[in-house]
Amino acid sequence: MFDVNEVRKDFPMIMNHPDMIYFDNGATTYKPHCVLDAMMEYYTCYNSNIERGDYDTAIRADKAYAHTRESVAKLVNCETKEVVFLANVTAALNQVAYGLAKDHLKEGDTVLLSEAEHASNLLPWFSLSKQKGFRIHYIPLDQQANADPEALERCLDDSVKVISLAYVSNVLGSVQPIKEICRIAHERNILVCVDGAQAIGHRKIDFKDLDADFFCFSSHKMCGPDGVGVLIGKYPLLQEMDPLLLGGGMNARFYADGSYILKDAPEKFEAGTPNIEGVIGLSAACEYLMSLGMDQIHAYEKELRSHFIDQIKDLDQIILYNPDNLSGPVTFNVKDIFAQDVAGYLASKGIAVRSGNHCAKILHEIIGTDQSVRASLYFYNTKEEIDRFVEALKGLSLESAIDVFI
Ligand SMILES: Cc1ncc(COP(=O)(O)O)c(C=O)c1O
Repeated sequence: MFDVNEVRKDFPMIMNHPDMIYFDNGATTYKPHCVLDAMMEYYTCYNSNIERGDYDTAIRADKAYAHTRESVAKLVNCETKEVVFLANVTAALNQVAYGLAKDHLKEGDTVLLSEAEHASNLLPWFSLSKQKGFRIHYIPLDQQANADPEALERCLDDSVKVISLAYVSNVLGSVQPIKEICRIAHERNILVCVDGAQAIGHRKIDFKDLDADFFCFSSHKMCGPDGVGVLIGKYPLLQEMDPLLLGGGMNARFYADGSYILKDAPEKFEAGTPNIEGVIGLSAACEYLMSLGMDQIHAYEKELRSHFIDQIKDLDQIILYNPDNLSGPVTFNVKDIFAQDVAGYLASKGIAVRSGNHCAKILHEIIGTDQSVRASLYFYNTKEEIDRFVEALKGLSLESAIDVFI
């Protein structure tokens, strides 16, 4: 197991804010030196566009960009040709929805989603269902947003063509049984798309073993830079699917009569100059996480979370929404105090959390509130930080929350 105190030294944000407690890792994670150094090295030593220059620095940039496909493939156990770089998980989910809606979905078909999904895995499907006439249904979830494969099986009929689900819920940390869902879905020729935004960087992902058709994530939620997302797709499906964006870098030929030939996947999805430094930084993030060990990261986070739950579950004023989930954020309300006021009070104590509906605006159907406070941890957090957090919570009353704002 890594030494968390040593690990913390890898993160300039932690060193520059020694008294701050950062529990908003579900929104974005801090970046270690190696990621920042990799991007700085690109800009200072070999800044060039990719796949168009024949000079040394351009060739070095080509190699570094291509190397990230290898790092991602190693991290999630897929083929390098299955790794597509886009802007974020939102872009990846939109690409999947658009690609499937265009050729796989028609009027009368059904797409299965869940009420715990982030906007990025709902709105593209909502919009396309209006254009194409397919239906959207929601799979049944329990009170802590966990899907039961047997209940899911009962929802499946011949009209269901696609299931798109978050592996780990960004609000409740519910971990969906994706491997089992893929097995059930594939027996019926249903495609499965996984929103891996809150799973990547927190647990080992094995794309081949899960057998999902698509797996999407954002680099910034796994110690990598902003502005880079990854779509992993089974190669034959990527080859069949049309890209959402067209332009330079992704076409093989085009002609005056308006016809064109696209490159093969993954390049055909990467129109225009990509976020080269971001992709290069992502490679460093993958290598960094693998050097700590994904199983070790996961085990440590589970330990942190159970310490957190033990500390707050018996506090009178706390309404806890996900005490039984084993990973992901701890989500709660303080009785009689508006979630944003709790977050404001915690901020006055140097603690960063998220409050609100966390972009999961129909989850209130399950938990009965659309305002909550989310404390999301990562492997550089400590039990001491949790203890300080709980002490701060104990000092919170309606008066103290109001005092912060007057
Ligand atoms: C489950 C889930 N899906 C999608 C997203 C969207 O991520 P991004 O803004 O990086 O596209 C998030 C962000 O919090 C998320 O938690």
